[in-house]
Amino acid sequence: MSANRPAAVVVLAAGEGTRMKSKTPKVLHEIAGRSLVGHVVAAARELEPEHLVVVVGHAREQVRGHLEEHYAGTRTAVQEEQNGTGHAVRMALDELGRAPEGTVVVVCGDTPLLSGETLRALADTHAADGNAVTVLSAEVPDSTGYGRIVRDGSGAVTEIVEHKDATDAQRAIREINSGVFAFDGQLLADALGKVRTDNSQGEEYLTDVLSILREAGHRVGASVAADHREILGINNRVQLAEARALLNRRLIERAMLAGVTVVDPASVFVDVTVTFEPDAVILPGTQLLGATHIGEDAEVGPNTRLKDTRVGKGARVDNTVADSSVIGDSASVGPFAYLRPGTNLGARSKAGAYVEMKNATVGEGTKVPHLSYVGDATIGEYTNIGAASVFVNYDGETKHHTTIGSHCRTGSDNMFVAPVTIGDGAYTAAGSVITKDVPAGSLAVARGQQRNIEGWVARKRPGSAAAQAAQAAAGESAGES
Ligand code: UD1
Ligand code: CA
Repeated sequence: MSANRPAAVVVLAAGEGTRMKSKTPKVLHEIAGRSLVGHVVAAARELEPEHLVVVVGHAREQVRGHLEEHYAGTRTAVQEEQNGTGHAVRMALDELGRAPEGTVVVVCGDTPLLSGETLRALADTHAADGNAVTVLSAEVPDSTGYGRIVRDGSGAVTEIVEHKDATDAQRAIREINSGVFAFDGQLLADALGKVRTDNSQGEEYLTDVLSILREAGHRVGASVAADHREILGINNRVQLAEARALLNRRLIERAMLAGVTVVDPASVFVDVTVTFEPDAVILPGTQLLGATHIGEDAEVGPNTRLKDTRVGKGARVDNTVADSSVIGDSASVGPFAYLRPGTNLGARSKAGAYVEMKNATVGEGTKVPHLSYVGDATIGEYTNIGAASVFVNYDGETKHHTTIGSHCRTGSDNMFVAPVTIGDGAYTAAGSVITKDVPAGSLAVARGQQRNIEGWVARKRPGSAAAQAAQAAAGESAGES
């Protein structure tokens, strides 16, 4: 809980982001399982502002729909034409109806690495120093394109000059405007009315508010970000990947410091929503997505992709793809398993090599070890499904369910033609096509009888290699007798 709770946070997201060269608006591009604007909104929410307003313009219906779906409670203000960041903030204040009393924080919608912590530090500095405006600045290795923070001889901030409007001497400054500000709401509203457009881009610059307030005798200040990488703004897909890598590293470091072993952080990708328990081990080439949770002592990977999947304590998941599944404690999955939505594996169960499952509940200790498809099924406890079995769930029109009891032993190469039920403790013979229910404790045999036609090869394939081999075998057995 922040002591300095802002009256409003304004997120600027009206720009098109032409440099992304995309049909998707820039702020809806995703990294680590969240849109760019979603990351910013999440950080802004940590300040617990009274109002959270996102300024939308380009592709506004799409952006608004996204916010309504994922970030209920955020308001939007429309900026019809992108006349500059100052104009955008004016639209947000209009949406609020009146100038807020208290602090207004402004952030850009394309800075996904900005943390709630940094925003809070800015709000705290702003309040402690009694400033009219505090800009979050950063020292960057290359300040090209950014607005420069200009200070006077005493080190006090005097103005922000945009790259395009800067002199050569100002362009040499490496302290830049991150685009994040804390303002006194009333003074902001007054100053925005005085912002002019006589600059190289003909826009209302929000940055001009700083010199306007200073010239009117108000306190202005800068809070220098501890890590300049946090304010990285995304303009193109190179920066998108850069931000992805930085965020991923941050998420993995957090997990490692909480007791998770990540053997090769560079080849593991984690969404912001993934959670871990201590002593989980993540092997190389693994992607953990959505609401995935990894339990204590579980070992996941290598080369595994889990989405919205819960992995129980001590489970082993190897070379597997899983979506919306539950893997029980000490269960074993893979290598090369595919768990589709609705798979629920009990404790100590197994989905082995080349096994696909979908909408299937597998009881405790039950094993499906090899080369099988289990779809729309319920299997009890401690049952063993033979290799290369198929749960035939689809008749061409609808899906049907198969139920198999506990302590069953089904033979290899079985087809379970749903709907069908097999009782507890039943056996089925290898190669069976099970079309009828099997009572508990029975053995079902459902395959053609074998018949051997002796001498067929000699008669039908005379002179062939097979016939010669058969003849040699006949001679040997004659010699033996
Ligand atoms: C802006 C700052 C610059 C700072 C940089 C940090 C101004 C005038 N310049 O420059 O000092 O160093 O950010 O990244 O503020 N937007 C709107 N409506 C508009 C214009 C922009 O909503 O009319 C939004 C954009 O969608 C974006 C953000 O404001 O999210 C910043 O706009 P952008 O054009 O990227 O600003 P820069 O030129 O990078
Ligand atoms: Ca611009």
